[in-house]
Amino acid sequence: MTPRCLLIYIMLIASMISAEPTCKPSKNNARNIICTPGDDDYILEKGLVSDNSKTERITLRGCRITEVNYESFQGLPLLKYIDLSYNRLSKLKLGSLDEPKELTHLNLSYNSITEFPLGIFDTNTKLQLLDLKGNKLENIQLGILDPLPNLKHLDLSSNEILGSTLNPYIFDRSPQIAFMDFSRNDMRDADEDLLHAFQAIEFLNLDRCMLNEVPAFATKPNLKTMKSLFLSVNQISEINNPTTFANMDGLELLNLGWNVLKSLHEDVFKPIRNLKIIVLRNNKLTTIPDTLFKGMTSLSNIDLANNLITFVPVNAFRGTVVKNLNLASNQFTYLTDNFCLELKNSGVRLQKFYFNDNPWQCKCLRDILTEVAKYGIQYNSAKYDGAHAVCVYEDKYCHRHESFNQIYVDLYDKLITKG
Ligand SMILES: *[C@@H]1O[C@H](CO)[C@@H](O)[C@H](O)[C@H]1NC(C)=O
Repeated sequence: MTPRCLLIYIMLIASMISAEPTCKPSKNNARNIICTPGDDDYILEKGLVSDNSKTERITLRGCRITEVNYESFQGLPLLKYIDLSYNRLSKLKLGSLDEPKELTHLNLSYNSITEFPLGIFDTNTKLQLLDLKGNKLENIQLGILDPLPNLKHLDLSSNEILGSTLNPYIFDRSPQIAFMDFSRNDMRDADEDLLHAFQAIEFLNLDRCMLNEVPAFATKPNLKTMKSLFLSVNQISEINNPTTFANMDGLELLNLGWNVLKSLHEDVFKPIRNLKIIVLRNNKLTTIPDTLFKGMTSLSNIDLANNLITFVPVNAFRGTVVKNLNLASNQFTYLTDNFCLELKNSGVRLQKFYFNDNPWQCKCLRDILTEVAKYGIQYNSAKYDGAHAVCVYEDKYCHRHESFNQIYVDLYDKLITKG
């Protein structure tokens, strides 16, 4: 091969390695442009997706984009949706998003964005959805969201946000936010007025936010439109103030699972009149206050699995409409005599009842198995296939008193000494 040939050969190979993504209209909708990555990192430029009077949606997911140049989205009068998720953006230049004025959806999730220049969204006033999940944001500067009065869905989860640095006025011009996700940030010391501008919140996610109490900012009167509140996977150890949820009468789902809850005020959930689902699993509860859920007329799902509960008061469930009750993996050895009948008589129609993985007295377990069979209640029957040890103490009687554990120990001691 002559040197000249070699050069041409190398150039040919080089031209086959392209950093530029390939963009095509999707098969069933020409208004939908979908790009696939090239072989290298790429700076998005005018020409790749710009200048098309028909384009409504552009998907540039995982296209190894490191920067967005000016006018990349020029000449796209109908553009409503941009997906730039899973790229390598660490910042966006002021002005780089100026052209798509009809934009309603912007997905920047899973990049490495650390901050936005003030004014970045100034012309995107129709934006309804902004997904910033999985970036490296430490703060949302005051004013960034101000041009977005139509914002309904804001996902800030899995960033590096310190709640204490969030200015409580950042949402003042975005009162219509209905979906707000802060999960996997440190929201411990957020200002209690952080969400004071919200008028239409429905879903608030504070999962894994390092909280050690129910944060005041999440339960203010202006949040009464909220339907779902996630406080799971935190370090909340007690909720002893009965007015904690006083403003939450619209709430339908409350998730407090995977905390370290030891104590709950007996009236703490009463103000949540519309509550349908409560998740308290994976906590450290040893007792359930006798009236904890009593009279909560919408409550149909109660999950108390994986706690340390030694006694389950049947009263706590009277006057609810509980259909699914999960008491699995606790510490009780018996349930109240005729537990299911008692509930039935108070109007409760159990459909699914899990009570496996408790240190059952065998006779007490047989009693409850007879009851669930009689009333056609589903239970975790796989656990009772004869292969597992399901109860720990065999006797003719079911000893229904809390001191049973002690008696059991005494009996056991007597047996030992006689033997
Ligand atoms: C944003 O993109 C990510 C990753 O592609 C996706 O999982 C997520 O559902 C998108 N967000 C929205 C709100 O559609």
